[in-house]
Amino acid sequence: MIRVLLFGRNGQVGGELVRQFEQRASRAPQGGYELIALDRAGCDLSDADAVHAVIARTRPQVVVNAAAWTAVDRAEAEPGACQRINADAPAAMAAAARDGGALLLHYSTDYVFDGRARRPYREDDPVAPLGAYGRSKLDGERAIAASGCAAIVLRTSWVYGLTGHNFLRTMLRLAGEREELGVVDDQRGSPTWSRSIARATLHLLDRHAHDPASWPGVSGLYHATAGGSTTWFGFAEAIFAQAPGLARRPRLRPLATADYPVPAPRPAWSVLDCSRLQSRFALALPGWRDALSECLAAGAPES
Ligand SMILES: NC(=O)c1ccc[n+]([C@@H]2O[C@H](COP(=O)([O-])OP(=O)(O)OC[C@H]3O[C@@H](n4cnc5c(N)ncnc54)[C@H](OP(=O)(O)O)[C@@H]3O)[C@@H](O)[C@H]2O)c1
Repeated sequence: MIRVLLFGRNGQVGGELVRQFEQRASRAPQGGYELIALDRAGCDLSDADAVHAVIARTRPQVVVNAAAWTAVDRAEAEPGACQRINADAPAAMAAAARDGGALLLHYSTDYVFDGRARRPYREDDPVAPLGAYGRSKLDGERAIAASGCAAIVLRTSWVYGLTGHNFLRTMLRLAGEREELGVVDDQRGSPTWSRSIARATLHLLDRHAHDPASWPGVSGLYHATAGGSTTWFGFAEAIFAQAPGLARRPRLRPLATADYPVPAPRPAWSVLDCSRLQSRFALALPGWRDALSECLAAGAPES
């Protein structure tokens, strides 16, 4: 039995992880998982000492950090608070995981890049975050790398699902409210279903959680997004084309980033090259259109 300590159980990715662990519990190799899943009340990540203490107390073999400050615009006004959650807490997790001999699985973001590239970013391409959120996530990555703990860090992008705050849910809500909708058409990325990320995570853990000798060889940074890319406008088009049961479908109007001012600048191009994940783990997340279809067909998960 592998004991897994999960932070962020109510998030988009965290919620899907709980589902995946529950499904795996009885049928994983090496006897499955014992999951301890924490929400904010179980451990507030703004308290790094509490983070360290809960890992020391529960003694997991694997720590999965699906918690984060993801309010990208609010981070510009509250960079210190964002930094505590996205950099200081992962640093504490990494130190505690190292001390306890645990594997850390953590998520990061395409927002570590400035978006000026014109080919998919590789893991070792130069980083240059445009805003406070991206800087905090980059600091989290660096703290984990510097800690010397065994850690797999998955950089993902444009996360959506049928729960939480995300673009898909915003579009489905606005479909009932608007005749016409302007959507940004000059930012390109890979919309990634939270369930695809959770499934990929379980794939990695099924292969490596029970085998600490393999951890040094697999530790590192991996890009893990859906295959293919589109713009927010293209994503909205696909949502309205595929969503079942919409009373009406708004007319879509392409916008330039400059027409939709927000506090935090976004990378114009955040397509990630996921070939390292493929070659190291024989793992590729589904294409974004296929995943969107499956997500819409799946409907909201039971509570
Ligand atoms: N969302 C995206 O588009 C996106 C893109 C690229 C990468 N990522 C990365 O992917 C990972 C998962 O993101 P997500 O979209 O699943 O995030 P999410 O839905 O916003 O969930 C984040 C979770 O973190 C928890 N959290 C926030 N502050 C906390 C605190 N002080 N103490 C304890 N828990 C706290 C939240 O708890 P509450 O429910 O109590 O607020 C929430 O459950 C993150 O590392 C994120 O940076 C996300």
